[in-house]
Amino acid sequence: MEKYILWNGDILTKEEKDSFVSFEDRGYQFGDGVYEVIRLYKGMAHLLGPHLERLFRSMKELEIVSPFTKEQLIDQLEKLIAKNHFDEDGNLYIQVTRGIQPRNHVYERDLTAVYFAKIDQFPKPLDLMQNGVHVTVMEDIRWLRCDIKSLNLLPNVMAKASAQRKGCYEPLFVRDDIVRECGSANFFLIKDGVLITHPANNLILNGITRMHVLQLAKELTIPVEEREIAREELYTADECFLTATPIEIVPITAIDDHIVNGGEVGEITRKLQAAYEQSLTEWKHEVGLV
Ligand SMILES: Cc1ncc(COP(=O)(O)O)c(C=O)c1O
Repeated sequence: MEKYILWNGDILTKEEKDSFVSFEDRGYQFGDGVYEVIRLYKGMAHLLGPHLERLFRSMKELEIVSPFTKEQLIDQLEKLIAKNHFDEDGNLYIQVTRGIQPRNHVYERDLTAVYFAKIDQFPKPLDLMQNGVHVTVMEDIRWLRCDIKSLNLLPNVMAKASAQRKGCYEPLFVRDDIVRECGSANFFLIKDGVLITHPANNLILNGITRMHVLQLAKELTIPVEEREIAREELYTADECFLTATPIEIVPITAIDDHIVNGGEVGEITRKLQAAYEQSLTEWKHEVGLV
């Protein structure tokens, strides 16, 4: 079946769109742009509001003039999903670049931003969610505005490739001996029944899944601490997991050579996974998916 993408407000086939990308696009030349990844369950966007809020915040922080209002974008995304007859589990990717101008570090203020959105099928990664993954500690060499979901992902790309060469799913970034987050996921640690994660500041991306999990923990009356985690704490943790939109909650069973919780998925991690699943079931009822 033909696959459609949303390109600057028009819904086009991939072939039609490919002839439109300008070599002077600042996203192409500088990674000067932002993006979002939104989960689709049975073709319905989950946590759309918080994702769009973060997209607009990222644009504002980088002084990118939004080419759409929230309402216009929602309308266009709904049309994109309908045009693709997409009713499975997948990821909706939205990218906005600052716009097109002759190459110059200094950007013009009144550029028209360029955007597209696409949908990819992505079933729930049950194997990862049930059996967990290994991570490897790496120095965080990213810039100091990790709170912006910028296209400029080279440190993450290189770290993730290096982690995968070591047989690990993710790098675990450490800066100043403090554990920050993973290459494309947030990090959580559990010690003596307390759920601990990095504060939402400029040194991590405040994940939409992170915020959802913190809310679920509060509802389950699991004590939560948003604070810096020293690197040494990794090796005495009872449980660890990571969160991201496409993968929800994924347990960490090893950090380099250190085995977490005897290599088993911990009790609180399982509880939170069950609560996540339950919240999805309730949401699906609310939006009429079941
Ligand atoms: C660096 C980083 N941290 C955290 C996350 C998780 O964010 P979210 O839960 O919004 O997908 C991502 C997702 O891509 C990420 O790239």
